[in-house]
Amino acid sequence: MAEYSNLQLDVRDRVATLSINRPDKLNALNEQTIRELGQAMDEITARDDVRGVILTGVGEKGFVAGADIAELARMGPVDGIDVSRLGQRVFRQIELSRKPVIAAVNGFALGGGCELALACHLRIASENAQFGLPEVKLGIIPGYGGTLRLPRIVGKGRALELMLTAQFIKAEEAYRIGLVNKLVRRPEAAEGQEAPSQKDALMAEARLMMATIIANGPIALGLAIECTTRGMEMSLDDGLAMESNLFGLLAATDDMREGMNAFLEKRKAEFKGR
Ligand code: COA
Repeated sequence: MAEYSNLQLDVRDRVATLSINRPDKLNALNEQTIRELGQAMDEITARDDVRGVILTGVGEKGFVAGADIAELARMGPVDGIDVSRLGQRVFRQIELSRKPVIAAVNGFALGGGCELALACHLRIASENAQFGLPEVKLGIIPGYGGTLRLPRIVGKGRALELMLTAQFIKAEEAYRIGLVNKLVRRPEAAEGQEAPSQKDALMAEARLMMATIIANGPIALGLAIECTTRGMEMSLDDGLAMESNLFGLLAATDDMREGMNAFLEKRKAEFKGR
């Protein structure tokens, strides 16, 4: 496993937990962290012992509070393009990962942090999460795909409201508008015991959701992600052609035979990813 300065990577039960690790800066994304994220996704792609990824931030307070403003403040127009393209490339790598990626949002997901969550396939949030694209307050616009991905997820009107007001919304509202798939309520203590922390409850829920996902055929999961992600950028006719080709391709896999035989034999499928 590679060493990262600003990330933690932990693999357990075929799930990688990738945590942004700059808690004293609320996990703000500096250039090094973004580069490391790309390297970690390469590592995860190559590892046969990983079937899914949970992306989160170290600590309870911040998922990621944005791109690192101290670094952004020094950019000129030409490096501005480079800054944006680097983030766009790494976030696109996450979006097109064939291994499902869940963002477990604990606390602030602002600017680049909100954009990072948007690039993940699913988002679950603890009750203390807050989302926002406050870039216009700094005289910039979202530069890591937020202007494109947010309207695709919540619709143009709501996306522009978030971007133009620069206001933060709470987890409850993010859930209501479909920005997050699941909201994890503040856990209550069992009698005579201490309540688990919000972060622990969030991570437990993320692992549960991921376990449900990775019990399914891994090649099918990857192609469902790819077909949906690329399909949203195509005409319906082109998307349908891609869908039928990928559907046909799956008929060549051992996993399809295993999945269907398991159903017919009333047993649990054992997928091999072949
Ligand atoms: N870039 C760089 N540093 C950041 C940061 C960012 N996006 N977000 C937070 N930090 C740093 C703060 O500068 C502070 O560092 P310091 O202790 O060395 O001064 C530390 O993280 C803690 O943040 P602080 O502002 O003290 O916490 P808070 O609870 O008072 O406020 C926020 C939290 C999220 C409301 C506030 O930090 C904030 O507005 N951050 C910027 C959000 C933003 O505009 N993101 C989009 C960037 S494109």
